[in-house]
Amino acid sequence: MSDFTLPAVSEHTDSSHAQTLLSVRDLSVNFQVARGGWPWQKATLHAVNGVSFDVRRGETLGLVGESGCGKSTLARALIGLAPVAAGSVNWRGAETVSGTQRQLDTLRRDVQMIFQDPLASLDPRMSIGEIVAEPLRTHASQLGRKEIERRVLTMLERVGLNAQHAGRRAHEFSGGQCQRVGIARALIGDPGLVICDEPVSALDVSIQAQIVNLLRDLQRERALSLLFVAHDLAVVKTISHRVMVMYLGRVMEIGDCEAVYGGARHPYTRALLDAVPVPDPALARTRRSAALTLSGEIPSPLNPPSGCAFRTRCPRASETCATRTPPLLRASEEQTLAACWHPHGRGLTD
Ligand SMILES: Nc1ncnc2c1ncn2[C@@H]1O[C@H](COP(=O)(O)OP(=O)(O)OP(=O)(O)O)[C@@H](O)[C@H]1O
Ligand code: SF4
Ligand SMILES: [Mg+2]
Repeated sequence: MSDFTLPAVSEHTDSSHAQTLLSVRDLSVNFQVARGGWPWQKATLHAVNGVSFDVRRGETLGLVGESGCGKSTLARALIGLAPVAAGSVNWRGAETVSGTQRQLDTLRRDVQMIFQDPLASLDPRMSIGEIVAEPLRTHASQLGRKEIERRVLTMLERVGLNAQHAGRRAHEFSGGQCQRVGIARALIGDPGLVICDEPVSALDVSIQAQIVNLLRDLQRERALSLLFVAHDLAVVKTISHRVMVMYLGRVMEIGDCEAVYGGARHPYTRALLDAVPVPDPALARTRRSAALTLSGEIPSPLNPPSGCAFRTRCPRASETCATRTPPLLRASEEQTLAACWHPHGRGLTD
């Protein structure tokens, strides 16, 4: 686990009354894949299955879940880079899935992405200055060359780089520096939302904290919204106001960071939290004895379990769980929305 010592962001920011920028409803993404090794035998893989959530202005929504649960596919679908089979994506009041090319262009200018592998996401033929300037040259061509240069240099300095770096190429930089370039490029056009897909997973732990802190500072300064995808629940807690947990393409739980980390109701969320290593061995032992361990393989998304997708690994599963898919429900204002027939209560012992 990363060593993050900052207070959780939800302790000092309230975004609950902020305007909704992104509204996603019943979004599904399917892929046609070869079955049994035969290219002519096709099966449908439901990578994202009826997902709904909002992102408000100035908030960070953390997105967690095991590998293959559909995080990147969901992120890509939001900006039209994955094939949407059903549902809607509404950005600042305009529908983008069935919208016009102009609405999609607005979305792509206003919603930027930061990727896991910073070096691979930067064009090796271009200088850092050119890379950071590119969104302005595409979307703000009315700005003169001098103004673009000025904005690029200001942005490079803001992310911890300097004017000398502008003439160099990405391969001359460390992973952390490349990610700073990726952040500068994403932010130069003043977007409303930045989707960060595992932005620190490929970096050393010491560098991870620096990049997360930078993103957090920029988010506050600019009232920016972030969708922050990560495996590491400690990192997500540090930066997020709310957290969404996915499993096999579905949302299992969503709620304020405090509610999720302090009293998760869904057995899957509890299992993920129990799996986070604790630095204190005594505490770790206590927790392990009470923990629900996340055992068993993740089922194939080509053949997901009936009813609740998590039921093959869930110690609370009942007959109902095998026949009926649980909807996302909230028991009270303070609690999270959980898709479970037998959710945990507020107390950690339940
Ligand atoms: N282009 C594609 N064609 C076919 N299947 C795909 C495609 N992209 C993703 N998938 C499948 O969709 C499911 C979700 O993949 P996705 O990459 O979104 O997961 P993820 O949660 O981002 O995983 P990770 O944590 O490993 O990045 C997986 O079963 C994956 O194999
Ligand atoms: S619905 Fe049933 S199987 Fe699914 S998480 Fe809840 S208790 Fe477990
Ligand atoms: Mg991914």
